[in-house]
Amino acid sequence: MAENYKRYTITAALPYANGPVHIGHLAGVYIPADIYARYLRSQERDVKFVCGSDEHGVPITIRAKKEGITPQQAVDKYHEIIKNSFEDFNISFDIYSRTSSQTHADTASGFFKKLYEDGKFIEQTTQQYFDEKAQQFLADRYIVGTCPKCGNENAYGDQCESCGTSLNATDLINPKSTLSGAVPVMRETKHWYLPLNEYEPWLREWIVEGHKQDWKPNVYGQCKSWIDQGLQPRAVTRDLDWGVPVPAPGAEGKVLYVWFDAPIGYISATKDLTPDWELYWKDQDTKLVHFIGKDNIVFHCIIFPAMLKAHGDYVLPANVPANEFLNLEGDKISTSRNWAVWLHEYMQDFEGKSDVLRYVLCANAPETKDNDFTWKDFQARNNNELLAILGNFINRAVVLTQKYYTGAVPERGELTELDKEVLAQLQAFPATIADLVERYRFREALSELMNLARLGNKYLADTEPWKLIKTDAERVKTILNIALQISASLNILMEPFLPATAQKLSDMLNLPVGKWAAAGASDLLPAGHTIGTPALLFEKIEDAAVEAQVQKLLDTKKANQADSAVVEPAKENITFDEFSKMDIRIGTILEAEKVAKTKKLLKLKIDTGLDQRTVVSGIAEFFKPEEIIGQQVSILVNLAPRDIKGITSQGMILMAENADGSLAFVQPSKKIVNGGGVR
Ligand code: 2FM
Ligand code: ZN
Repeated sequence: MAENYKRYTITAALPYANGPVHIGHLAGVYIPADIYARYLRSQERDVKFVCGSDEHGVPITIRAKKEGITPQQAVDKYHEIIKNSFEDFNISFDIYSRTSSQTHADTASGFFKKLYEDGKFIEQTTQQYFDEKAQQFLADRYIVGTCPKCGNENAYGDQCESCGTSLNATDLINPKSTLSGAVPVMRETKHWYLPLNEYEPWLREWIVEGHKQDWKPNVYGQCKSWIDQGLQPRAVTRDLDWGVPVPAPGAEGKVLYVWFDAPIGYISATKDLTPDWELYWKDQDTKLVHFIGKDNIVFHCIIFPAMLKAHGDYVLPANVPANEFLNLEGDKISTSRNWAVWLHEYMQDFEGKSDVLRYVLCANAPETKDNDFTWKDFQARNNNELLAILGNFINRAVVLTQKYYTGAVPERGELTELDKEVLAQLQAFPATIADLVERYRFREALSELMNLARLGNKYLADTEPWKLIKTDAERVKTILNIALQISASLNILMEPFLPATAQKLSDMLNLPVGKWAAAGASDLLPAGHTIGTPALLFEKIEDAAVEAQVQKLLDTKKANQADSAVVEPAKENITFDEFSKMDIRIGTILEAEKVAKTKKLLKLKIDTGLDQRTVVSGIAEFFKPEEIIGQQVSILVNLAPRDIKGITSQGMILMAENADGSLAFVQPSKKIVNGGGVR
């Protein structure tokens, strides 16, 4: 375990400032990164945990266009939302910066310049895709086509998100502009390329040979397969008007590729944080760790390291513990389909429950494979684990101490074998959890933390101090002393995972949250120390709360279906005379009943203004008879009568059909006299 690094630079992927943060981002990147950073601080190691908004690139300009605002307005809006939600969620960045800052423009520009002056780029004029309608070159998300590697038809010009491969726009099969839908033409343009092929032997040695043991298999495997397939030169500039201008002669109107500037954002954030930033980036005793999602692996393991290597002054990432993806209720999380649990909405709907989400997303983190978040599981983990195991143990320890000793920690007497065994087990937990965290196995680490709470519960269940108090009050003192020592260790060990709860517990124990080295000890709370007022660490989450969330998702699904429904093409034209042949009137439903032995039919009596007549209508799946009496409807009164299930139907009620097949009456927007004509 004990590493020899002098300091740590922890980065968490810079989220695009094109939308709020959702649970997929949290589970994949920000929660593990935050646990790691908090853990290291608790180990009293020198840590800088940096992040910020990724404010350049096509994702931003697309969003701005969609909202009818400028790219600057878009990034200002989302940077604020994202920054605030991270703060509310207790993500403990030392700095949350942004790539539209001046520091960043200078840093990214300076980085490019150094590589340019050192002759590290290839300057090349080639044919690139151009949209004649939009009068723009098409790169990155401005162009989609079929991925030559996996056949995904919606691969972007720089990456296929399905198989993770990084692409050049010219690799796409059947390319199409996302700006106008047009098939692009070729046009000449000059760009600067990083010749990744030249870095291949070094990358092979550094990753394939050097990191087989310590990088996660999913990360290592992807890198190896890309290197084995052979790397190509990669353009690091773009013909766009939003981004960091390229500081090279002849590059007017061009900007740095967003994936060139964004990772440099980690460096600029550190610069904004501390004048000692170089120590955190250039000193070989610094451990650099990038927390990212799996779609970012190529950029952090191949391209950025090649940039750092080309520059020459920087340390390389020691590890890139990328996670797989989190799905939501069995479906891929998607910003465009609004299929997500948004952090800022969660914080409103579940006020004061940030740790519940942190717990659930860590316990179910997609560390080795894609995982699924469900609201049922969220509720169960809160009620059956946080509340029933952790909350329950702490509650019993502090409530009994208040009750029997008015809050003063009792003196321990002679220890039984069980006491000794429990204290020995307690002592082993910090090292077990630390080892798991240092190997980026946060799920298992959290599960060990819960095992410590289980140990406490079992100890109380086995010793039953609430019964013993009547027969052996002295023994109860020892039991509660030990239960409180376990609570105090739990307080230290839970802090990286559940920081808000750790603060509550610290108030309850009337003891500041200690450092990791102290955890496991049997004397964290000295006899006589007065604890604070007991309070519940967790509340039960009721069915209604999660049902409301599930309903929200169902509404989203319905809205998506309606949006994507194929609208039938228009029928052939008819003349006005043909239309006039239809006699449509407004009528009122007087009676309604189901037609026996049918599922779909209702027999209605309608006042048409002309008469009262019977109409059989296939609407029973959507309306209850008693609910439609009195409603006004539109009725075609001159449709020839038809016999349906032995009933003569005299006319037809007009219905409007929704994308999901559900029906609604075509009704007047204000009351109309029965018999009023519809034209
Ligand atoms: O995938 C994304 O959301 C990117 N904005 C991540 C950038 S990470 C870094 F390199 F800045
Ligand atoms: Zn692909």
